[in-house]
Amino acid sequence: MSGESMHAAEHPFRIPQSAVHIQVPATSANLGPGFDCLGLALALYNEIEMCEIDHGLEFDIQGEGAAELPQDKTNYSVSAAQCIFDRVGYVPRGLFIRSVNSIPMSSGLGSSSAAIVGGLVAANLLTGSQLSRDRVIALAVEIEGHPDNVVPAILGGLVIAAVEPDGPIINQIDLPPLSVIAVTPDLRVSTEEARRILPVMVPRADAIFNLSRTALVIQALTRGDFDLLSRVMNDRLHQPYRKHLITGYDDVIEAARSAGAAAVVISGSGPTLVAFAPDHHSEIAQAMRQAFKQNGVGSRVWILNVDRAGARLVDDP
Ligand code: HSE
Repeated sequence: MSGESMHAAEHPFRIPQSAVHIQVPATSANLGPGFDCLGLALALYNEIEMCEIDHGLEFDIQGEGAAELPQDKTNYSVSAAQCIFDRVGYVPRGLFIRSVNSIPMSSGLGSSSAAIVGGLVAANLLTGSQLSRDRVIALAVEIEGHPDNVVPAILGGLVIAAVEPDGPIINQIDLPPLSVIAVTPDLRVSTEEARRILPVMVPRADAIFNLSRTALVIQALTRGDFDLLSRVMNDRLHQPYRKHLITGYDDVIEAARSAGAAAVVISGSGPTLVAFAPDHHSEIAQAMRQAFKQNGVGSRVWILNVDRAGARLVDDP
């Protein structure tokens, strides 16, 4: 396994003067057995522009969530930015935020994490990158509560994360070229509800089941070994409890596998399902979409490469 320890890495961000424009990738957390500790960044992005203005809070929200995202200080990007301002002791006169969102909300693809990460990274850049990348990561984990969406959104790629009282321990893993099929049904699943239904205690056999398979999933992904992936990408800690929130779940999994998918997982807390396959991505996407349709559920599909760079500045023309 090759990887880069976060403790050795310095933040790569440049320091702009008065306005920043960044993009933040979608993420798929858990990856089957890796509940709350594995996450993969995907090439679907929310963009955020932030600049200081004379007074007040102004927004221009476009794309996903434009009609429903709050346009006040409860907006995740604003509250995350405020955490940075508080830590560096900066009081902006006012703030303008434009976001152009491609990550569907409440979908299990990390839209909330992208908003938090966007606010943190943008505010850190605006204030001269005073916080290291490690501190931005620790803040993101503190705000979101779990590491497996926010850390890959910052770093890109496949990330393993463990939460410790003094900050997360992170490893970013090199992957061979990989694209996945993400199918987002027209269903809303709240992360709070999807966590509330999980048992507090689990049988030891289930814990062992997931431990062994998490290690093997990482090995399968780093080797590009879809045969191994198909045998080990199983979970007993969250998916069995959450699948009933996704209408048509069993049919869609079956359709994906019949069309050539090696493995299908609930992305984050759902309802998006992500399929892994060496080829036939379009056929698998259509089969999954059709299976949702036969269950009376519309869906959107994406075939997404892994994002390898994480949150980064957009070069404006
Ligand atoms: N690991 C988290 C969960 C991701 O499955 O609840 C969503 O925050």
